[in-house]
Amino acid sequence: ALISLRQLLDHAAEYNYGVPAFNVNNLEQMRAIMMAADQTNSPVIVQASAGARKYAGAPFLRHMILAAIEEWPHIPVVMHQDHGTSPDICQRSIQLGFSSVMMDGSLGEDGKTPTDYDYNVRVTRRVVEIAHACGVSVEGEIGCLGSLETGMAGEEDGVGAEGILDHSQLLTDPEEAAQFVADTGVDALAIAVGTSHGAYKFTRPPTDDILAIERIKEIHARIPNTHLVMHGSSSVPQDWLAIINQYGGEIKETYGVPVEQLVEAIKHGVRKINIDTDLRLASTGAIRRELATNPAEFDPRKFFAKTITAMQEICVARYEAFGTAGNA
Ligand code: G3H
Ligand code: 13P
Ligand code: NA
Ligand code: ZN
Repeated sequence: ALISLRQLLDHAAEYNYGVPAFNVNNLEQMRAIMMAADQTNSPVIVQASAGARKYAGAPFLRHMILAAIEEWPHIPVVMHQDHGTSPDICQRSIQLGFSSVMMDGSLGEDGKTPTDYDYNVRVTRRVVEIAHACGVSVEGEIGCLGSLETGMAGEEDGVGAEGILDHSQLLTDPEEAAQFVADTGVDALAIAVGTSHGAYKFTRPPTDDILAIERIKEIHARIPNTHLVMHGSSSVPQDWLAIINQYGGEIKETYGVPVEQLVEAIKHGVRKINIDTDLRLASTGAIRRELATNPAEFDPRKFFAKTITAMQEICVARYEAFGTAGNA
């Protein structure tokens, strides 16, 4: 069944678990996420970025999610729009049937330029007014995602601020977060606490203080009724990096956010944990290995099926680690 983000995260807060929000672009991802949810009896958040809409086309994305709901009617599914860059984009998603939208007013309409507080409040409040009238939830963002190690937003051409950010932008201020929630009425709030988008988060193996856990605690204490969201939460599995590179890939040494630290964040109010990169890495590793080891094969279903299994394993692991399992 289709449910809103608010409905799901209220339940998650009551029972102290987190929910991974997986990005979806194609049929294999959709099936991997749903098969993992079915296997572990987990509720689901699937999210579509602007890039996903461009790749698959909005009608295909919409019907893929609706098809998942039809095939697994016992699994609650939140259909979320990731990183909306304007109220118009969010409104279109609401019309398309999304049950939750993110208005990311921390960046301008180009998805790159950091904005000021008043702009962020103005666009986000507008989306809250429209969305809540339709029973749709809203996620906002305050602070700019980026590595505390390098000050970089992470991705070269994806979602994220351009150039180097300073330390105060990279850590969400608890007072500003509280003011933002009061000014906008968002259901969930994405915070900046040391993660960044993409595969290149940390250049060295992460220490156990790689996330600003103290900051998460302060924000949660200040706005206990707002569900916190962590973007850039991929763990960048080293085993998949090794497989990719073993079979002809060239991925530089890089590290993500350890699962244990995500679990720690969940104890302090983080309820939605955004994961895209991990499924991309598993998918690419599975394809490279399959093509290299079966060079005579030309039925694409053979290697696409391997991507489903690879992604499903990661989804199962996150549902279990985050305590999502058993809550469908
Ligand atoms: O937040 C970014 C997500 O990983 C989506 O990435 O814009 O390449 O689809 P994308
Ligand atoms: P990753 O790049 O760490 O998977 O983060 C994805 C994300 O935050 C999508 O909004
Ligand atoms: Na989002
Ligand atoms: Zn994100």
